[in-house]
Amino acid sequence: MTDSKIILVTGASSGIGEAVAARLAAEGHHVVAGARREDRLADLARRIEQDGGSIDVRRLDVTDRADVAAFVDAAVAEHGRVDVVVNNAGVMPLSRLDALLVDEWDRMIDVNIRGLLHGIAAALPHFQRQGGGHFITVASVGAHEVVPTGAVYCASKFAAWAITEGLRLEVDPSIRVTTVSPGVVESELAESITDPTAAGAMQEYRADSIPPDAIARAISYAIGEPADVDVNELIIRPARQR
Ligand SMILES: NC(=O)c1ccc[n+]([C@@H]2O[C@H](COP(=O)([O-])OP(=O)(O)OC[C@H]3O[C@@H](n4cnc5c(N)ncnc54)[C@H](OP(=O)(O)O)[C@@H]3O)[C@@H](O)[C@H]2O)c1
Repeated sequence: MTDSKIILVTGASSGIGEAVAARLAAEGHHVVAGARREDRLADLARRIEQDGGSIDVRRLDVTDRADVAAFVDAAVAEHGRVDVVVNNAGVMPLSRLDALLVDEWDRMIDVNIRGLLHGIAAALPHFQRQGGGHFITVASVGAHEVVPTGAVYCASKFAAWAITEGLRLEVDPSIRVTTVSPGVVESELAESITDPTAAGAMQEYRADSIPPDAIARAISYAIGEPADVDVNELIIRPARQR
């Protein structure tokens, strides 16, 4: 561990975000973890602090632009800077388009796309003022291929990929930009599926999965590279996944 960073993680109450928060805190960084389920965040904080790590938790709804701005601004006010923002919060209520679960389409757009944009809007001015920072987007293999029942989810992840790549091309080189695209990872993600056909298909698709720490290790690697090295894209999937 060479230098300790202030790292914000959205969607840190379970799955990948929780693993990212735990790993980065164990590596000596200060983590600020946000999500809606405050009981789960409090549990996470207890575990991290018991192990000697440093963490703040805060209720966060990424669909609310003002809430995301307050999340980032509070961290800057407390610590003087923010070094890394991991835009990880996401939902995946898969269904065929003809099921017309339009409210669930909206939720994916609100969390997976608008939530990411809110994170960028909140942190970018601070990164520019500081002369540095690192955005990490948790996209998906769904940012690279479309599957039946995944039209809207994959569209949201294609958008996350495009927004993050556009950001990389536009920003000053002092700001690093990474897209991490997981394959099937053990988490609560598939629990948001309400459509019975999609839920059944997912059980088979998700049978071979890797632990969320596999994604946390990739994120740790991208953060740990020197400031002049920008790890732009990583796809991490189970070896058995095609
Ligand atoms: N697991 C996989 O196989 C897989 C594969 C590819 C990509 N991903 C991506 O990885 C990311 C993390 O998912 P996961 O697999 O770890 O699933 P998960 O266990 O369901 O975690 C999702 C996280 O997002 C948070 N979240 C949802 N809506 C939110 C909102 N409005 N505001 C703030 N936080 C919100 C949840 O917290 P609260 O409910 O407490 O708010 C939770 O902490 C997602 O972007 C997902 O698309 C996962």
